[in-house]
Amino acid sequence: MSNEALSQFVYYSTLADGYDATCVGAIIKTARAFNASNGITGVLLFDGERFCQYIEGNPVAVNALVDRIRQDPRHKVSRPCSMSLSPRDGGTPTGPWLSPTSAATPSSIR
Ligand SMILES: Cc1cc2nc3c(=O)[nH]c(=O)nc-3n(C[C@H](O)[C@H](O)[C@H](O)COP(=O)(O)O)c2cc1C
Repeated sequence: MSNEALSQFVYYSTLADGYDATCVGAIIKTARAFNASNGITGVLLFDGERFCQYIEGNPVAVNALVDRIRQDPRHKVSRPCSMSLSPRDGGTPTGPWLSPTSAATPSSIR
């Protein structure tokens, strides 16, 4: 287990007007590359209309990323929530992943 300082951030958002699911591939590609090279891990859920993302990593890196994500015109962030939790609990998360099914959407954002 690592004892590095971590920040966590989670939010829900909705695709912005003028965008559809075809933009998600580019988001995933960018996110995988940037997150992997900056020690950021997490998950990205998408049901065709709404996102829910959890990210964690170095506080400076996470804060900078959150600023960019919140300003991204492809979505509207509706419920941001930063957290301060325990250190990363091990495992080997590989970065964002995508679920195209509504079954993966948390019930709280349906
Ligand atoms: C729903 C959503 C999730 C995103 N998640 C990430 C992410 O985890 N990592 C990342 O680098 N960019 C992510 N992005 C893309 C960023 O918002 C931004 O476009 C990217 O960091 C490039 O920023 P720049 O154009 O200012 O360099 C996400 C965008 C959206 C719409």
